[in-house]
Amino acid sequence: MTNNIWSRYIQGAKTLYFSRKLRFDDMFKESWKRAFDLEEGKRLKILEIGCGPGALAGALHRWYPMGEIIAVDRDEELIRFAREYEKGVEFVVGDALALPFPEGSFDAVISNTVCEHIEPKGFYGEQLRVLKKGGVCLVLSSRKGIDGTKYKELTEYEEKFWGKVEKYDDSIKKFGVGKYSAGESEMPVIMERHGFGNVSTDFVTVALTPDDPKFSSEFAFNIINADRYSALERLDSVSRSFGERFLDGEIETVKGIVNERFDERIGKYEKGERVWDTNVLVVMVVRGGKV
Ligand SMILES: C[S@@+](CC[C@H](N)C(=O)[O-])C[C@H]1O[C@@H](n2cnc3c(N)ncnc32)[C@H](O)[C@@H]1O
Repeated sequence: MTNNIWSRYIQGAKTLYFSRKLRFDDMFKESWKRAFDLEEGKRLKILEIGCGPGALAGALHRWYPMGEIIAVDRDEELIRFAREYEKGVEFVVGDALALPFPEGSFDAVISNTVCEHIEPKGFYGEQLRVLKKGGVCLVLSSRKGIDGTKYKELTEYEEKFWGKVEKYDDSIKKFGVGKYSAGESEMPVIMERHGFGNVSTDFVTVALTPDDPKFSSEFAFNIINADRYSALERLDSVSRSFGERFLDGEIETVKGIVNERFDERIGKYEKGERVWDTNVLVVMVVRGGKV
């Protein structure tokens, strides 16, 4: 079944796109390609499942220039965004539990932070079906990283606001977000249990530290603004889901505080005042084959 639940109530297109653009920047290409371990030099047909707004699919298009990249998601709004922002990929609206492709169509299937949300029998079963014999399944999922050095604590006003949000927000439960999350040692077992062979695991880390001199100022601003987009889109989804619980102007006030904080952070960067706030992502890559 297709719908726009994800982009409306869970994560907006900008939240996903700009955070993944950092994660799958060409700077980190070698680490990702080593973990994917796909055979190069042949015309690979690759399917991304639950592609969202398309940043990983776009990276695959750049990293495997001989490949044909197709990407599917059930959220029409995210697919519309992906088509606008990432060229060279065929984006399709469709359900991961009933993939609109015939058996044995792909050399590789890949997903990023999707396995946690879809019932595994259908999720893996469909991927096994559409893979060619000898094809590769890559499942990427976020693990506990380091997010302990935020630029600034929330204000008292925000603390109170988010406390209220927590009280009313039932979207995680209602939409089954993270319902099928699994630990590091469970992930390969689940893949094997669903028919894959030669299963292996790897971990890729990506450290996003705006003040790190190896990053250009443009990249540093992108790191800072990715968090800004995520905070602002979260407020939009709160407004859509249960905006009537808040006083007139309350959500707009929080938006103002958020923008002020990120503007201030950028101001410090521009003045050369180092803060060394950082976010270290750890992504698990589980790789299996259709044997
Ligand atoms: C956490 S988001 C990740 C999106 C994208 N992989 C990324 O990293 O930007 C999970 C994605 O899975 C998609 N999704 C969830 N259930 C799905 C299903 N049954 N079929 C297709 N897509 C699905 C959502 O629409 C959403 O885009």
